[in-house]
Amino acid sequence: MLHCNPTVTESGVDSAPMNLFDTPAGFDDPIGMWMGCHRRIEKQLDTLSKLPAHLADKGVDAEASTAAQAILRYFEKSAGHHHEDEDRDLFPLLEKRISDAGELARFRELRQQLEADHARMAACWARLRKPLQGIAEGIPKSLDTSEVAAFRGIYETHIPAEEGAIPDLARRYFTAADLESLGRSMATRRGVEFAI
Ligand SMILES: [Fe+2]
Ligand SMILES: [Fe+2]
Repeated sequence: MLHCNPTVTESGVDSAPMNLFDTPAGFDDPIGMWMGCHRRIEKQLDTLSKLPAHLADKGVDAEASTAAQAILRYFEKSAGHHHEDEDRDLFPLLEKRISDAGELARFRELRQQLEADHARMAACWARLRKPLQGIAEGIPKSLDTSEVAAFRGIYETHIPAEEGAIPDLARRYFTAADLESLGRSMATRRGVEFAI
């Protein structure tokens, strides 16, 4: 199966099923919510990775169109919000707060790499968007397996690099006020009211 039923979460429409033990973090836990975005990105990338073989086998059927719609919805909107959370709020705030010179130098290097990855992801996505839009509309289109693999490959190193460094830095350097301001920015970006 290519696709799960859409579920509305606090961070927008998601394609993952949700249960009581998998409740997404709220904006009062911005780092938890940020990590939750990574799990949703991975789910969409899984679906995207299955799509070229499905198209080769069955063509653009209803299942392929529904999957393409969910992938488009996610990467056009929610993934964009996620990258803005990082580029505009999370990374600059961390850079301001890290007081240890060596740690700050290492973070700056990491930030450069992560922002370069974001640019590469955007370029890759720009090449995938058009065929996906056709598939979403039921128009016969194929999807370049190597483009899909390249897009997924960037995230495969990017997400572990972020999660290997940022939650620990945030835990040690952010104050409660920093976390609240981060949560507020993330909520505003998504047009959601911030409530603790
Ligand atoms: Fe990122
Ligand atoms: Fe990220």
